[in-house]
Amino acid sequence: MPRSCDTLSAPSCPDLDAILARHPAHPRYLLAALQDIQAAFRHIPREAMVRVAAHMGIPESRVYGVATFYKALSLVPKGRKTVKVCMGTACHLRGAPGVLEALENALGIAPGDTTEDGAFSLETVNCLGACALAPVVMVEDTPYGAMTPARVASMLEKERDHAV
Ligand code: FES
Repeated sequence: MPRSCDTLSAPSCPDLDAILARHPAHPRYLLAALQDIQAAFRHIPREAMVRVAAHMGIPESRVYGVATFYKALSLVPKGRKTVKVCMGTACHLRGAPGVLEALENALGIAPGDTTEDGAFSLETVNCLGACALAPVVMVEDTPYGAMTPARVASMLEKERDHAV
């Protein structure tokens, strides 16, 4: 997906009309519509918020409010893959801060940011529900247990192959 999908104008951008057509024109379907837009565009483009508001017959401010309330929704493009570093108690005690620091250095970004090439976004979470594997990093649906700073480079290399 080209970066120009910010304006939804590029022919290769996802079809917003098709996404909206899947959701009835009622505010009750607002979150579902935004989740679909997030999945298709990897963020909620400004123009999409305007179109959703018109489709649902609600103020743009309400769409903006929902789009900024949920952590799963983002107003800026997310990476093709999201790297989640668990900072819960079990992971923290077993070295998660060092793993996070290694990831920040390797990717050149802080949690909440996306790499320049759009390959990865970095996030921290409180518990991934796999404390026995602590410290845990999740790349999309793939868990990496017993992570160490030394394993960060090979993990990213493996995931980057699939991300491009
Ligand atoms: S604290 Fe990290 S998986 Fe539970």
